[in-house]
Amino acid sequence: MNANNVSLKISAVSAEQYPKDNKPEIAFAGRSNVGKSSLINRLVNRKSLARVSSKPGKTSTINFYDIENKIYFVDLPGYGFAKVSKSEKQKWAKMIEEYLNTREQLLQVILLVDSRHSPTEDDIMMLNWIRQFNDNAVVVATKWDKLSSKERQENLEKIKSTLQLTEEDKIIPFSAQSGEGKEGLWEIIDDIIGSDEIGAGDVS
Ligand code: GTP
Ligand code: MG
Repeated sequence: MNANNVSLKISAVSAEQYPKDNKPEIAFAGRSNVGKSSLINRLVNRKSLARVSSKPGKTSTINFYDIENKIYFVDLPGYGFAKVSKSEKQKWAKMIEEYLNTREQLLQVILLVDSRHSPTEDDIMMLNWIRQFNDNAVVVATKWDKLSSKERQENLEKIKSTLQLTEEDKIIPFSAQSGEGKEGLWEIIDDIIGSDEIGAGDVS
């Protein structure tokens, strides 16, 4: 089914503002500019549901997107962007930490890494954190359209080894531009929420 019925529920900066209706949640984490907002837009076939910018640091709140009145996709602020002030960085880190530490209905944190580069120390730290909540990691290698076929294989191996991914973990190459990886990611998400009703079978 297509995810047609999607909307921004709330942009939150603190836990009191999170939605209170107990829907299951899937969160998207990753460095600033890695493509979190673009991925959400692509998953739901909406050009500008989540705001995208070539200027890193665009998403500075925790944005909850209501998907078919069933689950929330949670767009987390990006980490690791050098050009924001230290106090701003601390504010974001605190926001992400508060969310991850308190959110019981959070089913899975999906980590996005840029397929063009080796994962950073921040990415490794984030994945270690995710592993405290999730048995298996789900990693998305973004901007896949920007790689040559030779680079694709090499970079994927590099990402797997740097993040020490196991056989049980999942890694999905993804392009918000071409839509590659979208169906595979939806399958994983459907699996996580234990429903075959959302998203699957959607061609683009
Ligand atoms: P923050 O909100 O700053 O944390 O960034 P973000 O992770 O939400 O990234 P965003 O989706 O805003 O994308 C950043 C830039 O990368 C934009 O210029 C996007 O158009 C571009 N981009 C994202 N995904 C892809 C992709 O798959 N392919 C290509 N070619 N560009 C992409
Ligand atoms: Mg964003």
